[in-house]
Amino acid sequence: MSVEREVRVSKIRDGTVIDHISAGYALDVVKILGVTGHEGQVMTIAVNVPSKRIKVKDIVKIEGRALNRQEVNRIALVAPRATINIVRDFVVVEKLEVKLPSLIEDIVKCVNPTCISNSGEPVTAKFYVETEEPLLLKCHYCGYVLEKADVLGQF
Ligand code: CTP
Ligand code: ZN
Repeated sequence: MSVEREVRVSKIRDGTVIDHISAGYALDVVKILGVTGHEGQVMTIAVNVPSKRIKVKDIVKIEGRALNRQEVNRIALVAPRATINIVRDFVVVEKLEVKLPSLIEDIVKCVNPTCISNSGEPVTAKFYVETEEPLLLKCHYCGYVLEKADVLGQF
């Protein structure tokens, strides 16, 4: 059928569309951004929708808000294949592919209480990405391996 019979989620005027999130991960994206819903912006979350590129995907649309670089980097932790679209006056003015670097610095803390990075010493938390999906991050200092739940618990 050539005519779209329904629009599942409306287009937005201004804001950010996080597209191509792996199916089922939209709520993790919202959590890692620290968005609670009490900020007052309109937010639409679509889970398990059909997609040309990846069969099924999730989408998060946050109106009236652009994301900064740190927020984009955080999204890569839970949705390494996501596309960030900045929309102004209904037009996509910027498209960023998120990318998870092999070394994660600053964003996440080690959950091992005896790790030197938690001892008050002036060392920056540092992790190596062991696997992206499922997310496994290995601490540079103590070797502790963080899972996605350990990461999400920090936001
Ligand atoms: N979008 C939106 N509101 C707009 C413009 C775009 O919600 N005013 C959404 C679209 O629904 C889509 C995403 O932003 O989910 C990217 O839009 P666009 O670049 O137009 O779509 P595609 O070309 O399909 O993107 P891609 O090539 O990244 O798959
Ligand atoms: Zn550690």
